[in-house]
Amino acid sequence: MCSTESSSSAVVKIGAIEPANPFFLAPMAGLTDWPYRCLAIEHGCALAVTEMASATALAHCGKQTLKMLYSVREIEKILCVQLFGKDPGAFALAAKVAVEHAGADIIDLNFGCPARKVISSGHGGALLKDPQLCQRLVSAVSGAVDAPVTVKLRPGFSRQDGPIALDLAPKLVEAGAAAITLHPRYVTDRFGGQADWSLIEALAETVSVPVIGSGDITDPKEAVFRLKTSGVKAVMIGRASRGRPWIFKQCLDELRTGSHQSESLEERLRTAVRHARLLEEQIGPKAVFRLRSILIWYTLGLPGAAALRAKICREESIDNQLSLLSRTIEDMRKIEG
Ligand SMILES: Cc1cc2nc3c(=O)[nH]c(=O)nc-3n(C[C@H](O)[C@H](O)[C@H](O)COP(=O)(O)O)c2cc1C
Repeated sequence: MCSTESSSSAVVKIGAIEPANPFFLAPMAGLTDWPYRCLAIEHGCALAVTEMASATALAHCGKQTLKMLYSVREIEKILCVQLFGKDPGAFALAAKVAVEHAGADIIDLNFGCPARKVISSGHGGALLKDPQLCQRLVSAVSGAVDAPVTVKLRPGFSRQDGPIALDLAPKLVEAGAAAITLHPRYVTDRFGGQADWSLIEALAETVSVPVIGSGDITDPKEAVFRLKTSGVKAVMIGRASRGRPWIFKQCLDELRTGSHQSESLEERLRTAVRHARLLEEQIGPKAVFRLRSILIWYTLGLPGAAALRAKICREESIDNQLSLLSRTIEDMRKIEG
């Protein structure tokens, strides 16, 4: 665990909110729940975005959706809630619920999700086909709450449409957006190909508010390189943080000193155990099922990882899952020691 002191070289301000450093956790549906965000923050991440929550469900105070906004505020100093939907009224009401019931500090709007179910309902990335509606959504939310409103975009719906985000973003700022995150892949590209950081650079030159870059950051050196060379005020890390929350501390070390250390086996085990216990605290014994996939992240590179994963997946008790992992790590430490 480490502190999140601010870095003098890249201070980011979102409305009145000043995250302590420029390394953020990207929202990931099905992943960035409270335990995931907590671990990222404890390892130095300055701002972690929730999984996307349905604006319509939240507007009706849907119990399951409210649960998605669970947070322990002593740890998560800045609660950034992401909403998806398409109705300005629902978005405004949902933002109010997020601020008033969950204490959200920032409301982030999802204008980029490529999932078929989301697109076919006209939500997420489908909104990029209707720039005026995007403006109305930002305007409705920024008029409804005092919290800063941010937007997470892709460059456009499809390559044929071109990077419409470059025209749209200044209009979203006019409508009240306090920061823009760009994941530079077209919606129809989903996760294919490579993130085109030249589009992030172009966006950073176009808008007056902070731009946050997201896409294909796999290690701390790359995170710092992108931060220093693409005009962004912060970078988001998504997939590379799965089972590697220490990547945030490594990014901070890399920014401050130009180098970082690999995590130790002890740290890996300690983090996996904390992940499991946080999840168990939150959802009870059924955490054992989610842990079948989560603990697999922490087995990467261990000897006999494939057999270990198979055993973890068959286990029906969290304690047993953890002792399987711990025995393998202990054995490896003995070999290394
Ligand atoms: C499993 C998964 C779920 C995601 N869910 C969301 C989401 O709910 N909202 C969002 O704005 N982006 C979502 N994303 C996109 C990420 O926030 C991020 O922009 C993208 O993965 C690129 O960054 P990365 O290469 O660091 O993962 C998701 C990505 C993944 C892999």
